[in-house]
Amino acid sequence: MDIARTPSNPDGNIEMADAAGEPHSPPEIRREDYRPFPWLVPETRLEFELGLESTRVRSKLTVARNAKADHSPTIRLNGDGIEATSVMVDGEPAQAFTMDGSDLILTLPGEAHEIAIETEIDPSANSQLMGLFASNGMLCTQCESEGFRRITFFPDRPDVLSVFTVRLSGAKAQFPILMCNGNRVDEGEDGDDHWAEWHDPWPKPSYLFALVAGDLLARTDSFTTMNGREVELNVWVREGDLDRTEHAMESLKRSMKWDEETFGREYDLDLFNIVAVSDFNMGAMENKGLNVFNTKYVLADPETATDGDFDAVEGVIGHEYFHNWSGNRITCRDWFQLSLKEGFTVLRDQLFSQDMHSEPVKRIEDVRVLRGVQFPEDSGPLAHPIRPDSYREISNFYTSTVYNKGAEVIRMMRTMAGEEAFRKGTDTYFDRHDGEAATCEDFITSIEDGAGLDLKQFRLWYSQAGTPKVTADLSHDNGEAVLRLGQQVPSTPGQPNKKPMPIPLKIALFDRETGKNSGEQLLILDSDTAEHRFAGFDKKPVLSINRGFSAPVTIQRDIDRDELLFLAAKDDDPFARYEAMQDLITGHLVASASGDLGDDERVSARADIATALSAVIADGSLEDLMRGELLLMPSQSYIGEQLELADPGRIHAERESLKAAIGTSLHDELVQLHSRVSDVPFSMDAQAKGARKVKTVALTYLAAASPELAETMAAAQYDAADNMTDRQGALMVLTGLEGVERTNKLLDFYNRYEGNALVIDKWFALQASSLHPNVVEHVKALADHPDFTLRNPNRVRSLYMAFAANPHGFHIETGEGYRMIGDLILELDPINSQTAARFVPPLGRWRRIEAGRAAMMRDQLDRIAAFDKLSRDTYEQVSRSIG
Ligand code: PHE
Ligand code: ZN
Repeated sequence: MDIARTPSNPDGNIEMADAAGEPHSPPEIRREDYRPFPWLVPETRLEFELGLESTRVRSKLTVARNAKADHSPTIRLNGDGIEATSVMVDGEPAQAFTMDGSDLILTLPGEAHEIAIETEIDPSANSQLMGLFASNGMLCTQCESEGFRRITFFPDRPDVLSVFTVRLSGAKAQFPILMCNGNRVDEGEDGDDHWAEWHDPWPKPSYLFALVAGDLLARTDSFTTMNGREVELNVWVREGDLDRTEHAMESLKRSMKWDEETFGREYDLDLFNIVAVSDFNMGAMENKGLNVFNTKYVLADPETATDGDFDAVEGVIGHEYFHNWSGNRITCRDWFQLSLKEGFTVLRDQLFSQDMHSEPVKRIEDVRVLRGVQFPEDSGPLAHPIRPDSYREISNFYTSTVYNKGAEVIRMMRTMAGEEAFRKGTDTYFDRHDGEAATCEDFITSIEDGAGLDLKQFRLWYSQAGTPKVTADLSHDNGEAVLRLGQQVPSTPGQPNKKPMPIPLKIALFDRETGKNSGEQLLILDSDTAEHRFAGFDKKPVLSINRGFSAPVTIQRDIDRDELLFLAAKDDDPFARYEAMQDLITGHLVASASGDLGDDERVSARADIATALSAVIADGSLEDLMRGELLLMPSQSYIGEQLELADPGRIHAERESLKAAIGTSLHDELVQLHSRVSDVPFSMDAQAKGARKVKTVALTYLAAASPELAETMAAAQYDAADNMTDRQGALMVLTGLEGVERTNKLLDFYNRYEGNALVIDKWFALQASSLHPNVVEHVKALADHPDFTLRNPNRVRSLYMAFAANPHGFHIETGEGYRMIGDLILELDPINSQTAARFVPPLGRWRRIEAGRAAMMRDQLDRIAAFDKLSRDTYEQVSRSIG
């Protein structure tokens, strides 16, 4: 039985209709209502008697009045779906305790007390994967944000820090490995059972607690810190996965070194454990000294993981490791401050990956994610500031806005301060707030003081949602270039009127003849409009703006195609060059999808695009990794974003037809390119990775133009592949084609990797994201495949997230795609509400879609809302989306 559905858990499911039949909603939690907790919990002792079906938990909390908080005669211990079998205060059965919903309230007369509570839980029934759950015969925990309360009663809030000592015991055979945060201080045997005692010297909030028990093997290594501390490193996996852990371990060591060199941060325990689990709602979790990872971000070898997977493993390993300082040593005062740790840590992992590989390519990838996911979020019904003001279910705020826009906001501070001053700012932050539960405001003030910035107006980036629109208009007047800038921050739910924000824009002005620019400058646009004059131009230069994507804004610039072609070929900022290429294509697709493009214009625009792409193919100064970026078409969602009302069918058709036109006019160049890079032997260096990237990009254009040729080439690429990148790339192209090789290679792939869950996930995802005309039928059939299950989040996402992100399938005219996602949400919600709620945003885009489809999307939201037992997660997302 699902732990969240037991009758003792009134909060697990929200009754959406009360006795009078009126819908009512879970309470809204507001940032301004924050109050310090009246009690401190200096020490926590936990004892777990572990069993898959039944685990007994005994907790002992020492509590003392918090002098810095208002006095309260009671203490609130949060619970969720649990019952106390015993409650004692100072060694006596507690007389005065009550339940408030699922929380336990105790009256405490004195200054300091000891509270002892026993609970019993069933991990095997925990399909929500929050709290203590079973995965493949092992036990592990996930406590962020509010999972600890599913284990025992506790002040489950990030501003209550406690030193944890934990005793784990269980059957030796079933759980040979027993792990918790910190260091193991004792262990012993007891017949068929054994036990281990762990102590974490660093005070931490309950969300950073973790335990793992199971039959695991480790790759072991060590790292010597800058002050000579020897740290034991382990990556724990199931037997058989050990030879896919080398990359994770190397990434960990690189992260540790990088954080010392770049931010001066040293690791602070003698042991660092990473555990891979196959059932996990998110990517990974930074529990103190015991990071728990989705297998997807640990296991990698060239046979089963793509280059993208390798990079993702490195990035997530870095991310979780960096949390040890930005998250754990300094944590969040409350969940409204989530971006304090997440935005900053994303920035840190981005900078790490930039330093390990090509900086511009990484920047382009990060901007693509921001525009593909965060921009749509920021312009839709779920838009919220990076520091939200209210929520009903905090799980819904682990968003691209909090993470990726949060990182962009801190990156802007770094751009304005310069690297060195920014480092002084982060040093100030770490010094000042070490050991505390801090706020975004604390971070901003530290950067102001340490870096010497004035961020008064800049704070608006924390409180205002919406992607600013910047207009840029360059003219020429009397020997001067005149740049007129304007900004407008769109209204978002609950925020109709916005103030102008400081927007740091890196610009350069190019002379078209010489191809040179007059040097990069940083302008800060902090008012509605501004004018800048640049002397010494006898004719109008070409404007390159928002270089390096210095601000997370959209730019509307008055620029001709000629100038874009110039920048696409000549801009010395690689990002700006990519941007010019994207603008060139986006401009054309937006015009053609809105129907205001004559035949002649279409022909000439396509010719310009082909010319630009051809120059990119021929440019000998480009590395293939960068070439691959420059050759990529903007995504359908990015094009749709540019339109007030998008017709997904039309955009899709225009985009495919442009691909076909390019594939036709650049046929020979593409075939040659494919053949050149096919000769590059496999390795993990940038050159070989670049070769693999352009190899598949070339195929995608050819597939649109000459499907039969592409089928042959893709089948050959598949057969010749000695790595997953080439193999998956070839199969991706084939799944969109109707030929016989599609069936052959899909079957081969399945048979080759049967039993390897992460690769079978790819097999599902490739089919769900394909361009094949029958993709909807394919997805329906795959849902009945014996390997499909709603109990494993990776598998659910591999089929349905891939499908929801496939405009050609999800937006099929019949509305079938919307219905499938609606059905999924309703079926998944009782099993795993966090994962279910993540499928709501695609439907929530309805206001920006043409009327016919919008009505069908809306129907699905209404149908879900009418369901009388929705989780708090799904309820909140659906009601905001209908709004
Ligand atoms: N804190 C994790 C991270 O970003 C994400 C996470 C959130 C994981 C909630 C699990 C649950 O690194
Ligand atoms: Zn994080």
